[in-house]
Amino acid sequence: MLQSNTSDVTPGEPIVLRQKSGGSVSQSLSSVLGSARADSRLSGYARAQTLSGLPQAAADWFAQAAARFHWPVRLRARMAAKRGSLIVLEGVDRVGKSTQCKRLYEALRQRGRAVKLICFPNRNTEIGRLISLYLEKKYNLNDHAVHLLFAANRWEQVSQIRNNLEKGVSVIVDRYAFSGVAFTSAKSGFTLEWCKQADIGIPKPDVVLFLDLEPLAAMKRAGFGIERYENLAFQEMVHQRFKELMKDESLNWKVLDASQSIDALHQEIISKVEKTIEKAMDEPIGELWK
Ligand SMILES: Nc1ncnc2c1ncn2[C@@H]1O[C@H](COP(=O)(O)OP(=O)(O)OP(=O)(O)O)[C@@H](O)[C@H]1O
Ligand SMILES: [Mg+2]
Repeated sequence: MLQSNTSDVTPGEPIVLRQKSGGSVSQSLSSVLGSARADSRLSGYARAQTLSGLPQAAADWFAQAAARFHWPVRLRARMAAKRGSLIVLEGVDRVGKSTQCKRLYEALRQRGRAVKLICFPNRNTEIGRLISLYLEKKYNLNDHAVHLLFAANRWEQVSQIRNNLEKGVSVIVDRYAFSGVAFTSAKSGFTLEWCKQADIGIPKPDVVLFLDLEPLAAMKRAGFGIERYENLAFQEMVHQRFKELMKDESLNWKVLDASQSIDALHQEIISKVEKTIEKAMDEPIGELWK
């Protein structure tokens, strides 16, 4: 059970959290306000960043108390969430993206970081269901049309991604626009430039972790070969397209050797992601390919 002095605190005065039984937890609100930039609801702020060193129960309690407490406008203007990072994992099929996304998600949570994990395509929306039927080869679509559907499937989650980042929640993304472009441009008659158009302006990743593995090695891993696009020749073409996309130095690409063990790769990923989160929190959210 936690108690505080929030009911009678004056602006700038430290808020103190105490556990009724056992150890104590305290956090100086004035130091919090001093390090912040501008207002964003303190609930997300507390849960996401400022109190990340506190036990979850304490951070949640503080967030609820802060949401009920009406901060004067003068002080609100000095508060801001340090934003979360947009972390994208990319690569050809079966390189270990989903495995590493889950490991990363768990590791960040254990370290007290606020984090969400999403996956594209999101097969749970109307557009996503259509994409799913297409990938399962139960439905045929024009190549241009399906490309735009994949992009639309990302756009329909943009506000959710942005909201999370602004609240200080980092978002891990299992495939993003780079897969969309690499896969369509691997088909004949498509240029990279045309393929990029539909995703211009979606939130720009703070880091793109490219899990690099020869398609021949990837296809030997479990589960390869069930859906559309899962054949070696096509995957090799996709791999080439990814390499072309990686020439874009306006993006923070990190190429990682995906042939190493799951644990070794995870260690490399977590260290790169920690650095990214620390750096990105004071930067504005970018727009992709703009
Ligand atoms: N570093 C690794 N070494 C060996 N096997 C791995 C490694 N990483 C993942 N795997 C295995 O490879 C298979 C594919 O992994 P996973 O589903 O994570 O890949 P993916 O890139 O998400 O695939 P897809 O592109 O189909 O979504 C799984 O059986 C997984 O256990
Ligand atoms: Mg996967």
